[in-house]
Amino acid sequence: SSNPYLRGAGEQALAVAHRGASAAAPENTLAAQELARRSGADFIETDAQISKDGVPYVMHDNTVDRTTNGTGDLTTLTSARLDALDAGSWFSSKYAGERVPTLRAQAFGLRTRGGRLLLEIKRAASRDQVARMLGVLREAGILSPDRVFVQSFSKQHLTWARELAPELPRGYLTSTLDADPVAVARDLGLTAYNPKAAALTARPSVVGDLHRAGVATMVWTVDDPAQWRTLDSLGVDAIITNRPAELVSWQAAQ
Ligand code: G3P
Ligand code: CA
Repeated sequence: SSNPYLRGAGEQALAVAHRGASAAAPENTLAAQELARRSGADFIETDAQISKDGVPYVMHDNTVDRTTNGTGDLTTLTSARLDALDAGSWFSSKYAGERVPTLRAQAFGLRTRGGRLLLEIKRAASRDQVARMLGVLREAGILSPDRVFVQSFSKQHLTWARELAPELPRGYLTSTLDADPVAVARDLGLTAYNPKAAALTARPSVVGDLHRAGVATMVWTVDDPAQWRTLDSLGVDAIITNRPAELVSWQAAQ
């Protein structure tokens, strides 16, 4: 198999910064993304969804309530409203004035400073909305299989991404294991199958099943060194964590 995301012998799992370095800085902000990049994370995981006026933004929740000083469902807010929100003060006064990043701003940051993007299509109502997300990555010059990995909990999103940019690697997020993960991976043309850690450790033979089929596994969201050790010994290909600096240090000490 020619899957470059399969972990080679003697290699560490890829370190993926979940929503940026989100234990140390407000999640999914440019500050969290820059901290993740400087911590040596291999990928920055980012949740994308589309504003009322069709602009891709970086946010996890459906509403802006938890992570900004505003209220409402992101898809009902215009970019003018979103750009005025404070996305840092909820976390710490030190981050007052951080904005809800556009995906464009994040993509241009990655182009300038380096770093790879694990793009989670969090919500997309149509193929056109996925095309808008990929479009800003293209404009930033990072729409390449070396720089961008797409993941989603939605098979529909992954199918749209496959139609729009078949060259990009894709991973399917799931909190429970399918009866036959290899069959799901084959059907969707996946590069990776990305389960919640507890689901995978309950049925660890799935790692070998996927690897024999040429499919990688990227596991989420794990901040505890005892669990890093378990997943490392299972041979997972990537660990998604809120504490990328700590994971990178832990890996260096192994
Ligand atoms: O990258 C895996 C993880 O982000 C999936 O769950 O809810 O944090 O987007 P969630
Ligand atoms: Ca996510």
